[in-house]
Amino acid sequence: MSAKWLKNAVFYEIYPQSFYDSDNDGIGDINGIIQKLDYIKELGCNAIWINPCFDSPFKDAGYDVRDYKKVAPRYGTNEDLVRLFETAHEKNMHVLLDLVAGHTSEEHPWFLQSSKAERNEYSDRYIWSDFCFGSADGLPYIGGECERDGTYILNFFKCQPALNYGFLNVTKPWQTPMNGPAAIKTREALKDIMRFWLEKGCDGFRVDMAASLVKHDDDKKTGTSAIWRDVRRMLECEFPDAAMAAEWNDPGLSLRAGYDMDFYLNVTGNGYSTLVRDYENHENEDHSYFKKDAGGNINRFLDEYMDRYEDSKDTGYISLITCNHDTIRPRYNMDHRELKLFYSFIFTMPGVPFLYYGDEIGMRYQKLPTKEGGYFRTGSRTPMQWNEGKNLGFSDADADKLYLPVDPSKDAPTVSSQEKDPDSLLNTVKKLLSLRSAQEDLQSDAGLKFICTEPGRPLVYQRGSLFIVLNTGGKEVSLQKDLPLAEKLFGIGNTSYEKGRLTLGAQSFAVYKS
Ligand code: NOJ
Repeated sequence: MSAKWLKNAVFYEIYPQSFYDSDNDGIGDINGIIQKLDYIKELGCNAIWINPCFDSPFKDAGYDVRDYKKVAPRYGTNEDLVRLFETAHEKNMHVLLDLVAGHTSEEHPWFLQSSKAERNEYSDRYIWSDFCFGSADGLPYIGGECERDGTYILNFFKCQPALNYGFLNVTKPWQTPMNGPAAIKTREALKDIMRFWLEKGCDGFRVDMAASLVKHDDDKKTGTSAIWRDVRRMLECEFPDAAMAAEWNDPGLSLRAGYDMDFYLNVTGNGYSTLVRDYENHENEDHSYFKKDAGGNINRFLDEYMDRYEDSKDTGYISLITCNHDTIRPRYNMDHRELKLFYSFIFTMPGVPFLYYGDEIGMRYQKLPTKEGGYFRTGSRTPMQWNEGKNLGFSDADADKLYLPVDPSKDAPTVSSQEKDPDSLLNTVKKLLSLRSAQEDLQSDAGLKFICTEPGRPLVYQRGSLFIVLNTGGKEVSLQKDLPLAEKLFGIGNTSYEKGRLTLGAQSFAVYKS
């Protein structure tokens, strides 16, 4: 059973280097997050997920961990992180850390030991073939860098050697079984890291590449799932309120493997991508559902989503996201009205939603050279825009010292300007989240039923006693149908229900109570 606090959780994802710089060195920090907790709370988010904030050479922005038990000095100290947990808890908020389970940095002391020719305690902590000139059974590998005669397997970039959780079926002499002593030691080392932070007050983890542990796993991820179930058993005994969110994108598998939440991620052409990012394969044309002129057919999303939802709703939660640190910000192709409708949808759906910092004000995607392994992702990782002051309120450092440049445009959106405008994107998000918090029927567990999904008609769906109506298009649409729409609780644009006729003006949305 999932931690109870997830029933009404709404997460705010923080990319720590870009959120708020409290010591003016140009890089965001943990103290900065503490100072902005009230902002996050007032926005309506009651939980945060922080991207990796641990000691690292930062060749992949911290997803290359050198020391799992030490906060990276550029973000502060372990004491600062503990203070963040405590302050968040005082405000009735929860904090997830990012657990990079599948790999470490090539500079992690385990790897440095593992790469030595002479056998030692860490020789099998990573996956090594036994011949430096051979391939690695179809897995990505590096050879010729270490004194050890063998190639080592990678999990992602060159700087990220894969930890050894074993193979589902061993077919080569150098492979070890997933239940053998070497793989079990890795698994226990992972639990040790989790215990370290959970004992200090963290509320759980978002797990990076959660499906990547056991090598040559089968389609059902039988091996990797068994490991996560083992981890879950440990949590049930020792930290029953801990929550786990998987970067897996397959809730049917991940939730049964013991996760509470799994992200619905953007993969070109999948259901989620049809909502806001359906431009990647269509030159000069954007078919995203939330684009005003795209013809709005939600069924491309629902065909995939509903299967996932039905299959997983009794096991845990699907997490819909506004965006994340790996994805082009939705403002890239959508204006504020389109974003309002997109967020209205995300925040009235079941499961546990995640809002990426800055999406609440419609921060833009910036075209920038790569930073710390970001490549195209760098443009979604720029500093948070707080106000019209120096560096848009992110930092008092000189502009050339900033982690990344702030949005240079004259009309860069900021928190302070949008706070003053009742109709701003920021205030719309606040109203939506306060509605979600007041109405249990809009939260994680309440049921979901689609009533009308026909293109060219209002989209109508029901959550418990609430009815939600949406028109993403630029033209009025209507539907003749008996619906128990008694009281409008929230609305964008013009919507009306008279004599059994539901009429939705261009780009409109409403939540009705029955
Ligand atoms: C997924 C993370 O979200 C991404 O930022 C990272 O580069 C890879 N995993 C590798 O850890």
